[in-house]
Amino acid sequence: MALSKKAKDKLGAGLLISFEGSEGSGKTTQIKRLVQRLEKLGHEIVTTREPGGTGIGEQVRNILLHNAGGDEMFAETELLLFAAARAQVVRQTIAPALLRGAIVLSDRYLDSSTVYQGIARNLALGPVNEINRFAVGSVMPHITVVIDVPTSVSLERIKKRAGAKGAKPDRMERENIDFYDKVRKGYLLLAQGMPKRFVVVDGTQSVDVIEKQIWAALEKRLFGGNAKARAKAAGVKAKAAAKKSTAAKPAR
Ligand code: TYD
Repeated sequence: MALSKKAKDKLGAGLLISFEGSEGSGKTTQIKRLVQRLEKLGHEIVTTREPGGTGIGEQVRNILLHNAGGDEMFAETELLLFAAARAQVVRQTIAPALLRGAIVLSDRYLDSSTVYQGIARNLALGPVNEINRFAVGSVMPHITVVIDVPTSVSLERIKKRAGAKGAKPDRMERENIDFYDKVRKGYLLLAQGMPKRFVVVDGTQSVDVIEKQIWAALEKRLFGGNAKARAKAAGVKAKAAAKKSTAAKPAR
């Protein structure tokens, strides 16, 4: 779907906030908390996740993370599959929501491909960026929140999570410490290069403190320091418009 100029201009009405970070960084918990805050202000909120978020995307997710033959997958194949799931969720869920003026919270977005496939898997960044651009069209995040945790903490949390579910880690979670070190450094590098779009929060702090820091950063950057007043001025009716996408990430 190519977006018309008029549609592109209207995308400005909504907001896209992406959440990034290594495994076990606590993105999902923080997204849930942010949904509650934003819904209280009356915004329509749509949550989605990558890979997945649509029927087609969830099937692609299954190939990427849980396919029995997944160990044979080449990095190029992986990149294109993540991009395929992204292309679908952008057109099916994210762009329409932005056109309605909703706030979309995405658990991972294009920066995951830059970092995991480009930096950690060592694919050339030129093609990775080009494929990312093709997948998202003009739909870029307004703000990207990176929840940063040391690699040792990530690995510990992966182990705990798998243990609690009685399941073995998925294909990406079976990577080694060097891979996750690159992922972590990759995010910090991107954030350094794009300080206007990125907010980095220390994910080793308590859930409450992280929530407060994310909220303070969003208020300042997106709502001119006062989210309540801004929502009121925009005529957002409390609770009335609140609607959550069925594509929301299921609780772990
Ligand atoms: P998920 O279970 O959603 O992990 P998390 O809770 O950490 O987000 O699995 C997504 C995995 O896919 C995760 O290891 C990151 C990886 N990934 C990529 O490698 N490239 C991408 O473009 C995306 C979106 C995810």
